Amino acid sequence: MASTGPVPQPGILDINPYVPGESSVPGGIKPIKLSSNETPLGPSPMALAAYKAAADGLERYPDGSAIALRQAIARKWGLNPDRIVCGCGSDELINLIAHAYVGPGDETVYTTHGFLMYRIATLSSGGKPVVAPEKAYRTDVDAILARVGPKTRIVFLANPNNPTGTYIPHDEVRRLHKGLPSQVLLVIDAAYSEYVRRNDYEAGLELVATTDNTVMTRTFSKIYGLAALRLGWAYCPAAIADVLNRVRGPFNVTAPALAAGVAALSDGAHVETAVAHNEKWLPWVAAELEKLGLTVTPSVGNFILIHFPAAKGKDAAAADELLKSRGIILRRVAAYGLPACLRMTIGTADDNRAVVAALAEFMGRS
Ligand SMILES: Cc1ncc(COP(=O)(O)O)c(C=O)c1O
Repeated sequence: MASTGPVPQPGILDINPYVPGESSVPGGIKPIKLSSNETPLGPSPMALAAYKAAADGLERYPDGSAIALRQAIARKWGLNPDRIVCGCGSDELINLIAHAYVGPGDETVYTTHGFLMYRIATLSSGGKPVVAPEKAYRTDVDAILARVGPKTRIVFLANPNNPTGTYIPHDEVRRLHKGLPSQVLLVIDAAYSEYVRRNDYEAGLELVATTDNTVMTRTFSKIYGLAALRLGWAYCPAAIADVLNRVRGPFNVTAPALAAGVAALSDGAHVETAVAHNEKWLPWVAAELEKLGLTVTPSVGNFILIHFPAAKGKDAAAADELLKSRGIILRRVAAYGLPACLRMTIGTADDNRAVVAALAEFMGRS
């Protein structure tokens, strides 16, 4: 018998719920969790102290305008605070942007292995996701532009992208923007930008400052180590900031998150330490895995995409099983169209050594 209950909007039931990185292994042992691109260094001690101090005022609503945090972000990057919108993680901002600019019949474009939230946000808004192929796991600007048409409302670009770790240089981002009609919004998701050390990279600030149809999203979840607090921000043209402020919840960021975010920004040394750690260990892990005969996609983020052989017993699923039996959790990325790969977040020195040792055993090299 057909259901007579409430029916969700078209598109909603096409969404496969986002599956977060796993966090436990059988046997009750404390796992080495390298499945969600979290920093192994944790947050700045200053952010932690500010978070704890915020416990004194939990009966009060937070500052709904997030003014102290917007001013701190503006000071750090030389921005106009009026054009910054804070959110409950950058996920919320991605959703709000789709909610405000995409409706039934509209399209968004992103790349084959682009961050999964773009599909979810598009379908939630009744829109149609359009996927552009990548070249060698890297964004192909021409492929995106070829798929932009009269129904396109948003192009989502993760730069660097998760889960591939690849990026496109600023010139290419500019070329992408130049090819878009003025009514199409370019959303540059720069969640991992703080890790990137490349002269030809720019997070997106310049395009937001100089165009009316570019938004850049950022997060405190990655290098700042505040994933549990859910804190992100978007830098927008004034008209788009105005729209997002109309559709967001009035208190969408909690007071402890606001306080920790301001304090985190004041600890530049902590960020530098995290970058140096990543600069040391990412190339080391990639080189060690390649010595084992595995392929690693060159990454500028704090994670790597590891490609496994197709042979049964040597494939990504088998590797995942062996790693879990050693208490190590990487990320299965079949949902990203990458069933032959695992994504590994760069961990502590011990974590990284443990992964290399376990995969050496897996590949029969130990
Ligand atoms: C590319 C990308 N964008 C956005 C996010 C979401 O970050 P947040 O924790 O700020 O919602 C992630 C988290 O994995 C990500 O990888």
